[in-house]
Amino acid sequence: MKLSAHHRIPRRTATTAVTAALALAGLLGTAAPAATASTAAATAAPAAASPTTAAALAAPDIPLANVKGHLTQFQSIAGSNGGNRAHGRPGYKASIDYVKAKLDAAGFITTVQQFTYNGTTGYNLIADWPGGDTNRVIMAGAHLDSVSSGAGINDNGSGSAAVLETALAVSRAQLKPAKHLRFGWWGAEELGLVGSKYYVNNLPATERAKVSGYLNFDMIGSPNPGYFVYDDDPAIEKTFKDYFAGLGVPTEIETEGDGRSDHASFKNVGIPVGGLFTGASRTKTSAQAQKWGGTAGQAFDRCYHSSCDTTSNINDTALDRNSDAVAHAIWTLSAGTTEPPTGDTFENTADVAIPDNGTAVTSTVTVSGRTGNAPAALKVGVDIIHTWRGDLVVDLLAPDGTAYRLKNSSGNDSADNVQTTYTVDASSEAANGAWRLRVQDVAAQDTGYINAFRLTF
Ligand code: TRP
Ligand code: ZN
Ligand code: CA
Repeated sequence: MKLSAHHRIPRRTATTAVTAALALAGLLGTAAPAATASTAAATAAPAAASPTTAAALAAPDIPLANVKGHLTQFQSIAGSNGGNRAHGRPGYKASIDYVKAKLDAAGFITTVQQFTYNGTTGYNLIADWPGGDTNRVIMAGAHLDSVSSGAGINDNGSGSAAVLETALAVSRAQLKPAKHLRFGWWGAEELGLVGSKYYVNNLPATERAKVSGYLNFDMIGSPNPGYFVYDDDPAIEKTFKDYFAGLGVPTEIETEGDGRSDHASFKNVGIPVGGLFTGASRTKTSAQAQKWGGTAGQAFDRCYHSSCDTTSNINDTALDRNSDAVAHAIWTLSAGTTEPPTGDTFENTADVAIPDNGTAVTSTVTVSGRTGNAPAALKVGVDIIHTWRGDLVVDLLAPDGTAYRLKNSSGNDSADNVQTTYTVDASSEAANGAWRLRVQDVAAQDTGYINAFRLTF
């Protein structure tokens, strides 16, 4: 018994709904299902033929030769620009141009951000990989400037080249990460993290909040290397440690100056950070030489901030391992890890009118290409537009006609619509066949229609 009929919801036409759904599924051009007054039988192809959120695919091996090729270019840029790539010098801008051209050719959206420091123009380069959830951004970055005394190949051609080659690998793989990927090359780090501070200070608070993590790479090919992992965000730290554990390479926590590179700028505004480092002017101990090889009693990088920081100042093994670790972290952290994978969805979005206080109507989804029985936790998506849902009795009918009650009528449930997902133990039913959603309106006055019916296996 009704006390009042309330508002009605305008009804979409079946044509509109079906066309929209097919356009989304990429199915336009195939025969559209016909909708009739009381039933609609759409043999829906799986709306999602593969899981929409996948576990992380394995990252590719980053070719060491490519990373070293970038270092050769940085060396030659320094050579033709007075021997360095320092802030305010032409070698810096030439380095920006080199990295930007590679990224543009690979399909990145690049932005050069200018700032002024010490009376000269500085540049940050930002590269966005199109796609992914822009509310969850994973960033990786490296400072691209050298000190004025040399070419800065370990400090920080190494991090710059590894981040560049990882970005290019993202493009080669045409990676479709769940999260959005952004890469950054910072100017004037050597003068006090100037470029990265400028970037975060000009990032609105709403944008900062979307950055789930910033990974920093500054000096990752030191000639007498250690394997140091920043001890900051635990999830990022674990991602790196797991990678090195898989190689059988022991790591230590980075302690040669927390806050001495661009991650500090991000950390200071509350962004989770992590990173890798192979050591600067500190001396390698004998215990470290035992586990990592190299020379005890010598600096990790004897050419730190000097003119001998050239392409000869690189340990290939360290550069190779760390470059692969950058890619591993990017692949792992940008994958959807919180959402469980979903299965194939079969759906019918043709509208079916539900006669007022009348006979039952059905919407059909035909499942094919599955083997065996339906799942014990079959997800039944029900989308019914109705002005008084208490009028409705809703059942799922298996291909053999077995009815599973999803919802009873209820005189006092005056709310609109049934838009929910039920879980049904359908493990005694064959998966393949015509599944129906049966809806009956058992009380006079309010009306509605089936908007969509979907099954997820
Ligand atoms: N950022 C420093 C430089 O460019 C190098 C450095 C020293 C460093 N300690 C560090 C980098 C710790 C990362 C982590 O000169
Ligand atoms: Zn550096
Ligand atoms: Ca009714």
